[in-house]
Amino acid sequence: MTKLGIIGGSGLYQIDGLEDAEWQSVDSPWGAPSDDILTGTLDGLPLAFLPRHGRGHVHAPDTIPFRANIDAMKRLGVTDIVSISACGSFREEMAPGDFVLVDQYIDRTKGRPASFFGTGCVAHVSLAHPACARLSAVVGQAARAAGITTHDTGTYLAMEGPQFSSLAESRLYRETLGCDVIGMTAMPEARLAREVEICYLTIAMITDYDSWHPDHGTVSITDILKTAHANADKARALVKALPAHLPRGRGPCEYGCDRALDHAILTAPEA
Ligand code: ADE
Repeated sequence: MTKLGIIGGSGLYQIDGLEDAEWQSVDSPWGAPSDDILTGTLDGLPLAFLPRHGRGHVHAPDTIPFRANIDAMKRLGVTDIVSISACGSFREEMAPGDFVLVDQYIDRTKGRPASFFGTGCVAHVSLAHPACARLSAVVGQAARAAGITTHDTGTYLAMEGPQFSSLAESRLYRETLGCDVIGMTAMPEARLAREVEICYLTIAMITDYDSWHPDHGTVSITDILKTAHANADKARALVKALPAHLPRGRGPCEYGCDRALDHAILTAPEA
């Protein structure tokens, strides 16, 4: 049975139309999640929603408790996570207001705990394809049904922040590394989702052109928030459209996300 997890970024702090809605506190050995988790059903689809920055936007990108958040989703039985993030764009055609379905990442975050494994239990999962292609296809259908301009693939540069990039970094990411979008929050979220075998997709909601674009000024949080709040209406429309496109029952993920730990754990069970 599919249980959809939504992780909401700047501007998305609620889900409309949720039946039996209840904010639940979820305990995790990895600490407290960013906030309580809103659970309920949307058109018959069980759903769990977590505002990544907490209601009232209390967590900066580098203080988000990513491990607790993903662990809490797993404990609630979530099978698929759609994670929505405000992002800058490195492509003229990926304009503010558009959504990009991220399929690859370059991770330049620093010092964030990025694994559930380590001392005592060693595991190496594959991140060759960090996004679930099945989930991406259904989210693409739902986004188009909701009238949102959507790009089917994109490489996400995960930066540490909290400052925005210098012009030289912006050009490096765009021209040399070939990235399409930039944000501060999708990593290590995507890594951790894979480690707990949850199908995962980042939707980049474009808010700005970072600082590379000659016709746009340098990026500012005021402008980002203005666009993020306008985008949040689209994010809500997308979430509303999702239940019509996501199958309720689910067999094994055809891309193997739900079996990522098969053969990945090195530590002997008796160790
Ligand atoms: N979030 C939204 N816009 C961004 C940008 N230009 N850089 C990093 N994070 C962002």
